[in-house]
Amino acid sequence: MIKRLMCSIREYRKQSILTPLFVVLEVFMEILIPYLMARLIDNIGDMGYVIKLGAFLIICAALALLFGALAGKFAATASAGFAKNLRFDMFRDVQKFSFANIDKFSTGGIVTRLTTDVTNLQMAYMMIIRIAVRSPITMVCALIMAFSVHAKLSLIYLIIIPVLGFVLYKIMTSAHPVFEKMFHVYDKLNNVIQENLHGIRVVKSYVREHHEEGKFKEQAEDIYKYSVKAEKLLAFNSPSMQICVYATMLVIFWFGAHFIVESGGTELSTGNLTSLFSYTMQILMSLMMFSMVFVMITMARSSAERINELLDTKSSITNKENPIKYIPDGRIYFDHVSFAYPGHSRSLRNINLEIPSGATVGIIGGTGSGKSSLVQLIPRLYDVTEGRVSVGGRDVRNYDIDTLRNGVAMVLQKNVLFAGTIKENMRWGNENATDEEIAAACHAACADEFIDNFPNGYDTYIEQGGANVSGGQRQRLCIARALLKNPKILILDDSTSAVDTKTDAIIREAMQRAIPGATKIIIAQRISSVEHADMIVVMNGGRIDGTGTHAELIKTNAIYREIYESQVKGGGEDE
Ligand SMILES: Nc1ncnc2c1ncn2[C@@H]1O[C@H](COP(=O)(O)OP(=O)(O)O)[C@@H](O)[C@H]1O
Ligand SMILES: [Mg+2]
Repeated sequence: MIKRLMCSIREYRKQSILTPLFVVLEVFMEILIPYLMARLIDNIGDMGYVIKLGAFLIICAALALLFGALAGKFAATASAGFAKNLRFDMFRDVQKFSFANIDKFSTGGIVTRLTTDVTNLQMAYMMIIRIAVRSPITMVCALIMAFSVHAKLSLIYLIIIPVLGFVLYKIMTSAHPVFEKMFHVYDKLNNVIQENLHGIRVVKSYVREHHEEGKFKEQAEDIYKYSVKAEKLLAFNSPSMQICVYATMLVIFWFGAHFIVESGGTELSTGNLTSLFSYTMQILMSLMMFSMVFVMITMARSSAERINELLDTKSSITNKENPIKYIPDGRIYFDHVSFAYPGHSRSLRNINLEIPSGATVGIIGGTGSGKSSLVQLIPRLYDVTEGRVSVGGRDVRNYDIDTLRNGVAMVLQKNVLFAGTIKENMRWGNENATDEEIAAACHAACADEFIDNFPNGYDTYIEQGGANVSGGQRQRLCIARALLKNPKILILDDSTSAVDTKTDAIIREAMQRAIPGATKIIIAQRISSVEHADMIVVMNGGRIDGTGTHAELIKTNAIYREIYESQVKGGGEDE
């Protein structure tokens, strides 16, 4: 896990190595300073020596400052760079995800991983290369110095370090689970916010603001509760540290004074005594810092695990070796196909269907009957569980994925536009489309009539998710975008549901003219959308219930007849 995360350090390796180096230099300076101070105090009578030593002290202090600043700078660069690379790696992996992969992680889960979790790791990384290096070295060096100054007095450290260590350990281990819980609630809060903002229009139209506020408040209160609880525990850190520091100093002062007086300064000098105070501070302080790093690292561990889970997920749909890069024609063949969404029961059972190139096929059936699931297999948004889907006479799994998806344009049921102008959105379908081609596609999709009414025409800015166009307008723009790909196969998954019957008919005719040779698959709720198709497929419960032309199905298929009659009796074709 660590190794895989380390891959993201890349060009920041230099800074990552320089940081601990400068930290070590800084520590040496800091250890040297009390020693020099001790010499200075003990030779206070010799003015020349004092000035020389004083100058040296100032240089050491300045160097300590410089090394510290450099270490800080490199640590900041290294950790921020690491986080940047890590985010980029994760984002790139997410882009490669198949639909099945995306189903596994919720959007909220991916967002939290890319934001909070990476930030946690960034902090932990900075602490590791700085403080996790600094604390043990300081402690060891200060202990060596203290023992060399006065071994007997320094025995006190052997008592106080385990004591303080134990107290800090207790505090940290009791605070850690609280922090864990808190992060968990953060996830929930993120999900609540995400869901709410995504569906804010629905929330408003159902006047559910109160209910949503309640949900949010619950999570916010939990976070408050946990963070207060954790901080309350951590508040004991500083006082316990203080008690230990002053207790140690008292002991050293008490016995130290005795030693000085009894030996007349030969066994322990006044200067050395003061240096022991500094070392005490350094030893215990580094112990406390180390315990904090320890907590930070254990907390970052769960973030690292979550990030790793994402990085470890290989796209379930990948290219074969030497994939085919050309689709000969728009023939489609479903050969004993069964399909289940990962972790779910079968959505499609034993589908056998042959569609000749250039045919127009209608698919009709109740909601949940498997219409969308069926067509998603053609551009390999999902892979079949059993059987085989082939396009142009070849198994779709043998094609290069880009080639296949460029050749099979699909207007998804839940389609979206992206923030940007209409033109920019159109060029998503085909980067090289000229203005004329865009206009022609929009004309075929009956989108030009409203685009021409916009003051900015094709430069009209579409807001995120297409918020500023109506449902029917969005559908028409999405169809135009798909037409621009000039595909061999065009699939419209309930793409004209928000368009009136007349426009629906005009679009179908225009499509026939725009891409005459392409195979067209139209999923629809309305019989009128499919009745002129060369072939109509009736879906029911994940199986094909019948195929044929309108006239044939009316005679032979009960479900089709029922849908037809309900729509005719319902007072018109509009549902
Ligand atoms: N992403 C998904 N994960 C799990 N199950 C799904 C998913 N999408 C659809 N299903 C299930 O598959 C079945 C067929 O759905 P779908 O093909 O969307 O039906 P239709 O398009 O005919 O309304 C339904 O029972 C639905 O609950
Ligand atoms: Mg559907």
